[in-house]
Amino acid sequence: MPSMPRNLTHLTLATLLLSGALSPAPLLAKPAAESAPVDSTGWEKPDPKMDRFIADLMAKMTLEEKIGQLSLLTSDWDSTGPTMRKGYQEDIRKGRIGSIFNAFTARYTRDLQRLAVEETRLKIPLLFGYDVVHGHRTIFPISLGEAASWDLNAIEKSARISAAEAAAEGLHWTFAPMVDIARDPRWGRVSEGAGEDVYLGSRIAEARVRGFQGSDLKATDTILATVKHFAAYGAAQAGRDYNTVDISERTLRDIYLPPFKAAADAGAATFMTSFNEYDGIPASGNHYLLTDVLRDKWGFKGFVVTDYTSINEMVAHGYSKDLKQAGEQAINAGVDMDMQGAVYMENLAKSVAEGKVDVARIDAAVKAILEMKYRLGLFDDPYRYSDEAREKATVYRADFLDAARDVARKSMVLLKNDGALPLAASAKSIAVIGPLGDSKADMIGSWAAAGDRKTRPVTLLEGMQARAPKGQIVAYAKGASYAFEDSGKTDGFAEAIALAQKSDVIVAAMGERWDMTGEAASRTSLDLPGNQQALLEELKKTGKPIILVLMSGRPNSIEWANDHVDAILEAWYPGTMGGHAIADVLYGDYNPSGKLPITFPRNVGQVPIFHDMKNTGRPIDPAQPNAKYVSRYLNTPNTPLYPFGYGLSYTSFTYSPVTLSKTSIRPGEPLTATVTVTNSGARDGEEVVQLYVRDLVGSVTRPVKELKGFQKLMLKKGESRRVSFTLTDADLAFTRADMSWGSEPGQFKLRVGPSSAEGSEADFELTK
Ligand code: NOJ
Repeated sequence: MPSMPRNLTHLTLATLLLSGALSPAPLLAKPAAESAPVDSTGWEKPDPKMDRFIADLMAKMTLEEKIGQLSLLTSDWDSTGPTMRKGYQEDIRKGRIGSIFNAFTARYTRDLQRLAVEETRLKIPLLFGYDVVHGHRTIFPISLGEAASWDLNAIEKSARISAAEAAAEGLHWTFAPMVDIARDPRWGRVSEGAGEDVYLGSRIAEARVRGFQGSDLKATDTILATVKHFAAYGAAQAGRDYNTVDISERTLRDIYLPPFKAAADAGAATFMTSFNEYDGIPASGNHYLLTDVLRDKWGFKGFVVTDYTSINEMVAHGYSKDLKQAGEQAINAGVDMDMQGAVYMENLAKSVAEGKVDVARIDAAVKAILEMKYRLGLFDDPYRYSDEAREKATVYRADFLDAARDVARKSMVLLKNDGALPLAASAKSIAVIGPLGDSKADMIGSWAAAGDRKTRPVTLLEGMQARAPKGQIVAYAKGASYAFEDSGKTDGFAEAIALAQKSDVIVAAMGERWDMTGEAASRTSLDLPGNQQALLEELKKTGKPIILVLMSGRPNSIEWANDHVDAILEAWYPGTMGGHAIADVLYGDYNPSGKLPITFPRNVGQVPIFHDMKNTGRPIDPAQPNAKYVSRYLNTPNTPLYPFGYGLSYTSFTYSPVTLSKTSIRPGEPLTATVTVTNSGARDGEEVVQLYVRDLVGSVTRPVKELKGFQKLMLKKGESRRVSFTLTDADLAFTRADMSWGSEPGQFKLRVGPSSAEGSEADFELTK
């Protein structure tokens, strides 16, 4: 086990062990299945009436009309990429496109839909898609933040509400969830997923699919989910967006694919390809990924859309000599719908005429898309999602805003607390300092769909001022800037220092501007950008207690802050109600319960660093940490600043020793482990109990630990609860030396604790 970071000693720990793989049952919809795949919609069931309807319709379609159904274009209502095709309305009229993205509101989608159903020959309704990632109008925390809640109910609810708002504004389809495992915080898109872990990422992928799709695709408050970006996009070399991916087949199968498989099993209706290549073949031309794995092995029955112009980009990749060939490679690999590239629209008919593409392949793609339109009920009533009265009654509903506040506070992770939090009611004056202290635009982060950045978001300052006890002054000075070009400037420092000096406590609201993470937002440094670090160091000189509230979409290197400030709260980008949620935590109205879904390195040089790394042949001997010829750095410990699964509370939890039902199991036989967790502190609070397993010897080397289960518990102060996990050999499966999937007999270590770096171990054996 890695040595424990200093600040972990805040937690009261007991040694324990246990086993198992349970996730909490969702509040909404039906309970999560514990083993069988969850089909969140039932849409895959045979429907002979639909089959007849679609067969009749397709019998009437020309090749051009079929190709039209395979084409998706952006409207000019919003833009989420570098290209825009003028005249998309004319394309609709001509039947050249079957779907539109970046168009919403009941009225606008109705107007566009009218073009399709009144002006085209076959009157096939349009499908409207959009990036509804962490909220539509009411914005929830960024996805990485939601993942930090480890609360599958909350995450499902967030997606459910997002779907309800989106569907009330004419949308049928979201380009979410993003389920890419992300282990390189230089990559801006770490903010969009569930972090670094395969197990947590898979459970969250299922929860989000359930949330978006509900249990009935026809319902007017559910939308199609898109699982993206297939596949291995998170492994972009050097964390540079769109970069090459070169990972082993085993890593693909064991690390990057499982969340996609989980989402497919949960009934996800559509998949999106990724921009990267895998093993030399761009994802949008990758038959292995799109057909062999997704359709043939996993049995996926929905449709596959490209990510933006990724078919066109196969030319730049050096995989296609021209767009025509790129289109052929894409459709033959398994891409059904071309987003924004117009490659199918302009080339496919010719490719069919030349015999390069089989009409049967086009028919299969058209059928998959028309089926989704049918299942959404669009052939019954193409305008059923474009209802202005429902739109008005749905967006920004009070209970949606309450939910956004609740999910936001659940997502926050207390990284350090020397007693400065919760804020003492006796504090007479609080200085809020930093570029994120009163910035509405930043609160909702990137990919905030139709979220309003100007008026709706509640800032940290507003949230604190609304909550401050009578007589307490909460004042603000921006002080610093997060703009890269402002590093070295000190213009705002004097005002901020003067405010700090006359205040009892400093709340430093620092981090990154909202668009410094997300797509095309990679960085080579994880430091606080601009002159924020310099101001923080000046504030330290005032001698006042400092609480750092970090807002960003990636782990930042905050080693200095960890050593010098009194408390650190990771608030991510907390969404529309973020300021209230932060105030809830700072004032102790909510006891923080988030745990990191991604490792925080000490500095960028440790990247990639994640909890389930391999041991190497020369691991550090803790008794001789500075020995030479072992796998380590000369200048930085191997341990992260904060490990995966880590997060503090205002209370403390103790764990009893675990009892195991047996120490040896045969294949198929369950192993149950039970532990008692006690809230031993002075406040009610939630704890995420985490189970890790290590397979000691394998036909291929195995990680030092793998998350295999977790449970989030609410415990009243003084309350104890027995927690049981059940594990079978199926939970121990991996891609073995011969590339088959399964477990191997042998010795295992089990560990349960409050983070990936803590807890006690016990041994068990899996026999033949
Ligand atoms: C590109 C992004 O990579 C993807 O995630 C998004 O869904 C599409 N653009 C559409 O906006």
